[in-house]
Amino acid sequence: MITFSLNGNDLSVDADPAMPLLWVIRDIVQLQGTKFGCGQGLCGACTVHLDGIAIRSCITPVSEAKGKQITTIEGLQGKTKTDEHPVQQAWIRNDVPQCGYCQPGQIMSASALLAKNASPTDDDITQAMSGNICRCGTYPKIRQAIHDAAKHLASPASPNESTVSSTAHFQSDLSS
Ligand code: FES
Ligand code: FES
Repeated sequence: MITFSLNGNDLSVDADPAMPLLWVIRDIVQLQGTKFGCGQGLCGACTVHLDGIAIRSCITPVSEAKGKQITTIEGLQGKTKTDEHPVQQAWIRNDVPQCGYCQPGQIMSASALLAKNASPTDDDITQAMSGNICRCGTYPKIRQAIHDAAKHLASPASPNESTVSSTAHFQSDLSS
């Protein structure tokens, strides 16, 4: 038995210690927000947090999770579906996803970056996100959303501000 915390809940799994953590998450626990891409640590689709650090779960044996805290995209937000993490909110405001397949991994890498660096530069973002591949080319929007999330984390919007769309172009949009 290998015991660890998954999204805040203690979990014991009867699995080969060498089994990739991704298999445990997707096939045993049936949390399928974490994606399989390359299976070789090259694309970032399988990114989860291990004690707050972004890791590639496809090349991480489940034995490495023993006694640790694992967070998947399902555990990033609060208890309700409308209680998204600030990075998820920024992704929505900035219309980041296209096909969406890579996006859970992108969000997990971005949230780990912002947890250790509240105000990342473009270079910081390039470095932290370089292992997350997007076939749809959403990179400019990912960068924009990370800066947006950093801004909101530093200065959360008031309730009134949160009703204003990021696509508001005219004064009338702001008064509706
Ligand atoms: S599936 Fe893990 S890095 Fe590609
Ligand atoms: S949104 Fe399609 S692969 Fe990234």
